[in-house]
Amino acid sequence: MSGQRIVEIEAQLTNLQLVPVVSLPSVDAGLRLAEILIRCGLPVAEITFRTPCAADAITAMRKEFDELLVLAGTVLTIDQVNIAHDVGAECIVIPGFDEGVVEYCLTRNIMVCPGAATPTEVLQCLNMGLQKVKFFPAEVAGGVGMLKAMAAVFSDIKFMPTGGISPNNLGNYLALDSVFCCGGSWLAPEALMKEGNWREIDARVSSAVASLK
Ligand code: 3PG
Repeated sequence: MSGQRIVEIEAQLTNLQLVPVVSLPSVDAGLRLAEILIRCGLPVAEITFRTPCAADAITAMRKEFDELLVLAGTVLTIDQVNIAHDVGAECIVIPGFDEGVVEYCLTRNIMVCPGAATPTEVLQCLNMGLQKVKFFPAEVAGGVGMLKAMAAVFSDIKFMPTGGISPNNLGNYLALDSVFCCGGSWLAPEALMKEGNWREIDARVSSAVASLK
């Protein structure tokens, strides 16, 4: 992946402000969701490697929907980095910091956004040359107050808070200069997809997009 493409993706995430974090029950659910996200004006999804269809779903979503930005989430190992990258995920999101996995991505020019919940972890990211990190699990790790405290010392770092983000607190996070976008699973929970409640998912995505304007 070129450095230019990474800059473009970072700009796209900053512009979109919100990333649906999604554990897909099936490939079909991925396609259905992609159509809703694009139609509602939120053409991005972090597909977690928590369900067995993740890689196949990313392949299908990328093939069918050119305009969808697909991140791979809950990536824990180098093997998963390779799988996610091979099927076309454009950013690897890791829930925590692992030097080996991060190093592997960096040496192969694969965009990576590791998780950090403490100043020590943020410092490790910074010292590997990263400027974008996932703040996870945001709410229980100190939320907006913790981010304000960390932003005071890590002025070069921008955060993607995820974990406990909801329509009630999204605006508080996005109001921080240190936040480039937020992630959240409330938009398309696995249970709603399993029961085929696409109307509710559509309503949640539409309402979130409206709140971002
Ligand atoms: C993640 O995968 O990043 C989080 O589990 C999402 O957190 P949430 O379910 O609280 O949005």
